[in-house]
Amino acid sequence: MLKDLIKNKKAKIGIIGLGYVGLPIAIEIAAKGFKVIGIDIDGERVKQINRGSSFISDVESATLRKYVRDGMISATTSPAQLRSCDVILICVPTPVTANKEPDLLPVIQSTKWIRHHLRRDQLIIMKSTTYPETTDKVLLPILEESGLKVGKDFFLAFCPERIDPGNKRYGVINTPVVIGGVTRHCTRIAAFFYKHFVDSVHAVSSARAAEMSKILENTFRNVNIALVNEFAQLCERMGNINIWEVIEAASTKPFGFMPFVPGPGVGGHCIPIDPYYLSWKAREYDFHTVFIELSARINEEMPYFVVNKTIEVLSQSGVCPNKSKVLLLGMAFKRDISDLRASPAMKIYEIIKQRVGMVDYHDPHVPQLVIGGRRVRSIELNKKTIRMYDIVVILTDHSKYDYNFITKNARLIVDTRNAIKDGPRVFKLGQGMKR
Ligand SMILES: NC(=O)c1ccc[n+]([C@@H]2O[C@H](COP(=O)([O-])OP(=O)(O)OC[C@H]3O[C@@H](n4cnc5c(N)ncnc54)[C@H](O)[C@@H]3O)[C@@H](O)[C@H]2O)c1
Repeated sequence: MLKDLIKNKKAKIGIIGLGYVGLPIAIEIAAKGFKVIGIDIDGERVKQINRGSSFISDVESATLRKYVRDGMISATTSPAQLRSCDVILICVPTPVTANKEPDLLPVIQSTKWIRHHLRRDQLIIMKSTTYPETTDKVLLPILEESGLKVGKDFFLAFCPERIDPGNKRYGVINTPVVIGGVTRHCTRIAAFFYKHFVDSVHAVSSARAAEMSKILENTFRNVNIALVNEFAQLCERMGNINIWEVIEAASTKPFGFMPFVPGPGVGGHCIPIDPYYLSWKAREYDFHTVFIELSARINEEMPYFVVNKTIEVLSQSGVCPNKSKVLLLGMAFKRDISDLRASPAMKIYEIIKQRVGMVDYHDPHVPQLVIGGRRVRSIELNKKTIRMYDIVVILTDHSKYDYNFITKNARLIVDTRNAIKDGPRVFKLGQGMKR
């Protein structure tokens, strides 16, 4: 029955959590002719969606408005709507606690909502990134408290989300998806559903394998970024090798090398957080994930490294760091988006405020932000304002920046992204001070 509903586009799709993951999926599912109902605890977001106003940079308000007006997308804070849904996707956050342990509360709360409204022939797909065995050992026992049996009465699968906000080439449709069900039947039905709106589906033998594949992808990035960050630190120490030139040279090898670039640290909701989910889980098996710990040590050191470099550049240029004015360019954790979650720029702002002098920021995508309990605004970037600062630190290389203008007008520049050409007043991360 569920297959027929999906085939005839009569299945109603529920999405719990309408953020960077949930909202773009809602749009693509609606575009394929399925009715979508979004459920979120954030009443303000729900209102915005029902007004057709998008808060996610990858989703155009005009597109959202069209689907809302046509009755294809609606949002609510009421979990009671879940009963009418044939397929339910869980897209809620999976953060870590202050001690870097998994915080599954939003996932557990969503699963309890579903259990409360669970009925025969529903398909539940967990999308939020998590450690292996979450679907089998956390979600399944909650759902089976209903008395219904998985693989027979209802279906449960894990399908990791791979979205890369701001990526113009790969989105929901053309990024292949991995799916693993709790039973074989669960995998088949979840894959069947997904084939209705994405180009390519790769089924694996279990939810556990799908969960582990997502953590492998993110840990792979985390470890490789740490490796290149360590190389950048060494180049700085040696003083006369430029890491950017080195990476460019190594990248000419057509096989066996994949370039990663250094930066002020890792940010976002995935790369700095997901590996901790695995290292926490591994301890249950008396296993220590050494690469994850090591990478965290290097990557989490990078904001401090950038501040030390800024202080060194100021001192060597005859400016007393304690009396200096610093301007940070780019606060989002990566280029051309507004996402500040776990952004190393935020950390750098705080350290500079404590250890150096006055600090301001500019980010074309972040007009204001709250830091240390205080609301601060992006300054206006023009010839007059940029000259007021002793040093400009490029933290995120947004494409909206006019780098010629910055090079021409800034007194000193620390460039952590290789955004600008070399110059006498330009000090790149991973380049060292010897000239
Ligand atoms: N953002 C990314 O680029 C990305 C990429 C791949 C995977 N993921 C994973 O996807 C999941 C969701 O991430 P996101 O970036 O969309 O998060 P987000 O913070 O942008 O959105 C999550 C939404 O869930 C809502 N929410 C929180 N708790 C809830 C609850 N108990 N019930 C209902 N709604 C609730 C929030 O109000 C918010 O609207 C996470 O596990 C994340 O690791 C994110």
